[in-house]
Amino acid sequence: MNVNNICCIGAGYVGGPTMAVIALKCPDIKVTVVDVNQQRIDAWNDEDLDQLPIYEPGLKGVVAETRGKNLFFSTDVEKAIEESQMIFMAVNTPNKTHGEGKGFAADLTFVEKCARQIAKVASTDKIVIEKSTLPVRTAEKIKEVLSSNTKGVHFEVLSNPEFLAEGTAIQDLFKSDRVLVGGDDTENGKAAVAALVSIYSNWIPKGKILTTNVWSSELSKLASNAMLAQRISSINSLSALCEKSGADIEEVSKAIGMDSRIGSKFLKASVGFGGSCFQKDILNLVYLCKHYGLEEVAEYWHQVVKINDYQKNRFANKIIKGLNGTVNKKKVTLLGWAFKKNTNDSRESATIYVADILLEEGAELHIFDPMVKEARIYQDLITLWESRNDSQQKINSKLKCCVVHQDHKTALENSFVAAILTEWDEFKFYDWDAITRKMKHPAKVYDGRNVLELNKNINQYFIGK
Ligand code: NAD
Ligand code: UGA
Repeated sequence: MNVNNICCIGAGYVGGPTMAVIALKCPDIKVTVVDVNQQRIDAWNDEDLDQLPIYEPGLKGVVAETRGKNLFFSTDVEKAIEESQMIFMAVNTPNKTHGEGKGFAADLTFVEKCARQIAKVASTDKIVIEKSTLPVRTAEKIKEVLSSNTKGVHFEVLSNPEFLAEGTAIQDLFKSDRVLVGGDDTENGKAAVAALVSIYSNWIPKGKILTTNVWSSELSKLASNAMLAQRISSINSLSALCEKSGADIEEVSKAIGMDSRIGSKFLKASVGFGGSCFQKDILNLVYLCKHYGLEEVAEYWHQVVKINDYQKNRFANKIIKGLNGTVNKKKVTLLGWAFKKNTNDSRESATIYVADILLEEGAELHIFDPMVKEARIYQDLITLWESRNDSQQKINSKLKCCVVHQDHKTALENSFVAAILTEWDEFKFYDWDAITRKMKHPAKVYDGRNVLELNKNINQYFIGK
């Protein structure tokens, strides 16, 4: 099958960058990215590339080269479906917030909606691709929805999970460790897999394109995220032991990572992992295991999330303890709101939870992040509090104790504490001697990412040291 027209439903952190790279690498394919969110699409179409809805190093250049040539952003979902031979679904798949599996199971509302729309609109055969992260056997449900089409259209459903990490998305897409394509072992299934493989083959070496059955592909995505997060929780659990025993987590991590069977990546101790996916995907895995009656397996993976919560609480409590057990009415400064450096994404950032604990304790919180917008920071807190059913009065009074700054100097002036929560490079290069002179004495610097050099003039507290 010669594919020359594809679309992607969902213009988010996955849909935008992945399609921009496909457009760049496959100039003969017309790529349309559609979304129901008009504001997001307008931002993708903004002449000023600094207004793109997502900050990713290298993304602007790729969009500049392709947009308007073979890459298009639109809200006309139906037109894009009808025109395309291949449809990627890259919509959000959060955890359910109510009903059976609340807090754990994946909410497939958006995926199902896409499938219904495809079933309704399509009048020619389509290859429908799961790009979103989905529970194993979701393709079955998608096929069922697609079968409601009344125009005799044949749909082939493939799983093609995305492994990019935010902050390095473009680099990851250019040089993927692997591309995974799951399809049915039928003639049509094999033809659909071959069509998708031929797209990736334009820039990914054949040996890195792995084809499997659909269920293995779906499960591999959840399992990959769980294994990565498990490494972080493992090293973070050991960081607590280091603090008690006099060992140094950086040294321990290096020693462990030099064993080539283990490897050095994802062994950086931190204030806890964040991001929109690790926690949600592990909780989804926990739900799946329970669904299949595998209680012990479910509990094993659940522990990864529990240790992550423990680490965030531990960091916040360390600050409180360091201020003689109370932060009430004390200025405390948080540096970094994004869940990692080089992104403006703050979904599930550890900082949100640390901020929440400190605000509950009465701190006057001052926040600075080089990339996350003020409105987003307030919204993250409001969303958390609303999800807990805090009263409007309580929310308002906590918001009054929260100030977002546009520069780090004012955020830190007269503060009792500077706490680093995101590993932004610029934090390393601040003049910490000058900063701490302008803070309350004795100034304390809590480094939740172990990014600072040791400075004998400053009271520094690191993770796992
Ligand atoms: P996102 O929230 O940034 O984007 C999803 C977009 O889909 C939103 O803009 C939303 O408006 C749109 N949408 C939802 N329903 C729609 C519909 N019916 N029609 C048209 N548009 C619709 O989400 P994301 O971060 O891009 O993640 C998407 C999926 O990819 C998730 O399943 C996630 O787990 C997975 N994933 C994410 C990452 C990542 O780094 N963010 C990496 C790998 C996989
Ligand atoms: C992660 C995976 O790395 C991607 O492969 C996957 O596609 C993606 O989730 C997804 O499915 O959404 P991402 O969340 O964007 O990517 O970023 P990571 O680099 O994995 O970092 C996640 C969190 O772990 C961040 O808060 C980061 O600071 C933290 N982390 C990472 C550590 O605390 N220590 C480490 O050693 C590594």
